[in-house]
Amino acid sequence: MNFNPEEVNGKIKKILITEEEIQLKIKETGRLISEEYRGKPLLLVSILKGAFIFMADLCRAIDMPCEIGFMCAQSYYNGTSSSGIVNITMDLQQDVSNYHVIIVEDIIDTGRTLSDVAKLLKARNPLSLKIVTLLDKPERRVVELEADIPLFTVPDLFVVGYGLDCGELYRNLPYIAEYGG
Ligand code: IMP
Ligand code: MG
Repeated sequence: MNFNPEEVNGKIKKILITEEEIQLKIKETGRLISEEYRGKPLLLVSILKGAFIFMADLCRAIDMPCEIGFMCAQSYYNGTSSSGIVNITMDLQQDVSNYHVIIVEDIIDTGRTLSDVAKLLKARNPLSLKIVTLLDKPERRVVELEADIPLFTVPDLFVVGYGLDCGELYRNLPYIAEYGG
């Protein structure tokens, strides 16, 4: 699927990861997760909005019962470093202490938001905590944070599609593309 070129105004520069590549990798990741967590209480948690499409596809690639949950979080920073203060504007309904938790993220860029959210969830004593991210942009990292399962590594470019936006647009592209304003 492609947008009408007039509507994207030449801003979608290049497809970096195709729809087929994304779907294939998600199926493989779903199989790995199912093998590792089978028989255990599993809760997938994603931070809105960027990971909503990844969450929808990943949970359907997992062939065992699991719960899903969503959070809205904003982190505050003093200068360039994370204050570690996360403002949760919408919290999980589940008590994570009863679950093995996997955070499902769209992209790890500086790592600040996810680092804060991971700290917060860890403090609630889940049975275990792992991070799955669709995209990893390691060149941009300012806090130490690694995903347990990164699906794709991308260079230091601004990307859109498959849930990721620029000014709230382009989340509905089925692939990951380089955005050039
Ligand atoms: P950080 O890791 O705390 O810097 O923030 C990561 C968040 O910034 C992601 O969850 C995205 O919502 C957003 N973000 C970072 N890089 C990009 C990009 O290339 N395109 C679109 N959104 C991005
Ligand atoms: Mg995000």
